[in-house]
Amino acid sequence: MRVTIQELATMKAKGERISMLTAYDYSTAKLIEEAGVPLILVGDSLGMVILGYDSAIPVTMDDMIHHTKAVVRGTEKALIVGDLPFMTYHTSTADALRSAARMIQEGGAQAVKLEGGVSMAPTVKRVVECGIPVMGHIGLTPQSANQLGGFKVQGRSVDAAKRLIEDAHALEEAGAFAVVLECIPAPLAKLITQRSTIPTIGIGAGVHCDGQVQVVSDLLGMFTDFVPRHAKQYAKLGAETKRAVAEYVAEVSSGQFPTAKQSFSMDPALLEDLAKEL
Ligand code: KIV
Repeated sequence: MRVTIQELATMKAKGERISMLTAYDYSTAKLIEEAGVPLILVGDSLGMVILGYDSAIPVTMDDMIHHTKAVVRGTEKALIVGDLPFMTYHTSTADALRSAARMIQEGGAQAVKLEGGVSMAPTVKRVVECGIPVMGHIGLTPQSANQLGGFKVQGRSVDAAKRLIEDAHALEEAGAFAVVLECIPAPLAKLITQRSTIPTIGIGAGVHCDGQVQVVSDLLGMFTDFVPRHAKQYAKLGAETKRAVAEYVAEVSSGQFPTAKQSFSMDPALLEDLAKEL
């Protein structure tokens, strides 16, 4: 049985902090779950950290479903949230329902995430009415980075902060089960968290959110093109990967790899018979 949205609500009620991480493939998802993460996001950040695009904009629904299926196969207990990519839920409510349904039916996710507050609330309401749990995402919404003028902290003026409070409230009213607060001042995130009955999941939003989300490649030091200020590297697997691969290359060149341990033997009598046949 996977973690449920009700259990996440209970965690907020009890003041238990929620850890969420992204994953994009079977092996990483399996390790993350085994390490105790209850909530996994197949984020459209896969556009940058897995597919090598310079933003999440080119990510398609097919890309998301392909990776979500792998993450679902690697996990048994975690609740899997699939990100709806750019323009797969904006064009109409029918399109949003179709995209959300694909994520659940084909991808195997238990919930979807979409970006936007007040303007997206009617869409969220309809998707939730159809039985699909929705996680909201406000603040720095990367799919709108061109409109926002880049990857900047949001909600720094009184008006902008009020709009974010309204966005969070609208998502809650629409039935979202949680909301990601990305790159907003910590005191504002605290205020939103206190006023919200659903869990807030912060990324660059300070310690007072009900939970935190990080991009796994940032956390493990695997993605070094750009390290966001809000990321903490708990390991340097990028450097460790390069070291290990360089050692492998050196051992292949020198003939140190493979050894007998990594090779398979053959009965010497058979070898003699073979020699006679040649
Ligand atoms: O795509 C993603 O990884 C995200 C998180 C940063 C919240 O949306």
